[in-house]
Amino acid sequence: MSGSEFNHYSVLLKESLDGLNIKPDGFYIDGTFGRGGHSRAILERLGPNGHLLAIDQDPEAIAYANDQIKDPRFEIQYGSFEDITAYCAARGLVGKIDGLLLDLGVSSPQLDDAERGFSFMREGPLDMRMNPEAGLSAKEWLEQVDEKTLKLVLQNYGEERFSGRIARVIKEESAKGALNTTLDLAELVKKASPKIDKNKHPATRTFQAIRIAVNRELDVLKNVLEASMEVLAPDGRLSVISFHSLEDRIAKVFIRDQSKIKDLFPDSPILIEVVEPILRRVGKPIFPSKEECQVNPRSRSAVLRIAEKI
Ligand SMILES: C[S@@+](CC[C@H](N)C(=O)[O-])C[C@H]1O[C@@H](n2cnc3c(N)ncnc32)[C@H](O)[C@@H]1O
Repeated sequence: MSGSEFNHYSVLLKESLDGLNIKPDGFYIDGTFGRGGHSRAILERLGPNGHLLAIDQDPEAIAYANDQIKDPRFEIQYGSFEDITAYCAARGLVGKIDGLLLDLGVSSPQLDDAERGFSFMREGPLDMRMNPEAGLSAKEWLEQVDEKTLKLVLQNYGEERFSGRIARVIKEESAKGALNTTLDLAELVKKASPKIDKNKHPATRTFQAIRIAVNRELDVLKNVLEASMEVLAPDGRLSVISFHSLEDRIAKVFIRDQSKIKDLFPDSPILIEVVEPILRRVGKPIFPSKEECQVNPRSRSAVLRIAEKI
């Protein structure tokens, strides 16, 4: 199925763009192009001399961008946003970016396409990679991970209380070659869960945890936030939308730490040397309105954080 056949709503669209404080002649980066909802809106706010570089690690998103966005101010880059410094260096743009938008996680087209293997509701290969051309699929990852690490992943990334039991049965079935599809995994987790929450499929947490591990979602977020301090211009804005508490915590702690004066010798009774903050927090975290959550239930868990480079 082509991407254009899916419904796709852009989360916190106006709020995240307001956060970028767009200058008509500025150079902006959309690190998570998806189906370009945010990118199109950025282009609308830019003048004829503005520029937008969009990035995505999903080849389907790249094909969609090449097909659908014909605008001389727009460019699409295939790859991970954690390599943002290299993309900027290749264009002579390190330290010159006026704003970076990150709308994290998977897109609706990725979730809705059974073949991508993200959904426990649709039969598909056990893949879950946002970039199917890189790294291990979920099936391959489950085959090579040891039971103890898998338990920790389920516990830490999925907050799964039956992590030990689920990790054990996953490793047993995987060793037998019996874990090949999304529904194989969903059924297995259901059987292994002693208590079933009526409002949530028992495999929800396991799928989230494996997806985060397979795509290294927390590491790439830390890396891009660090890198953003190199590529942003003074007064350049960072607008980050996250969808689960682990991601939001990384964005929150990064912004907090970079906005503080750092004491280089914290154990000394007197202040010897300090590093000035390089970031300024802009406003409070922003959540979607009730109306947005009604129109797009997937926006329910979203949080937007904004900061400005000093
Ligand atoms: C929530 S969607 C973005 C939707 C987009 N803002 C829109 O309005 O259409 C996230 C997109 O970011 C991409 N993505 C996630 N992590 C990435 C990474 N580390 N590097 C590049 N792209 C990434 C995914 O492939 C997906 O297409």
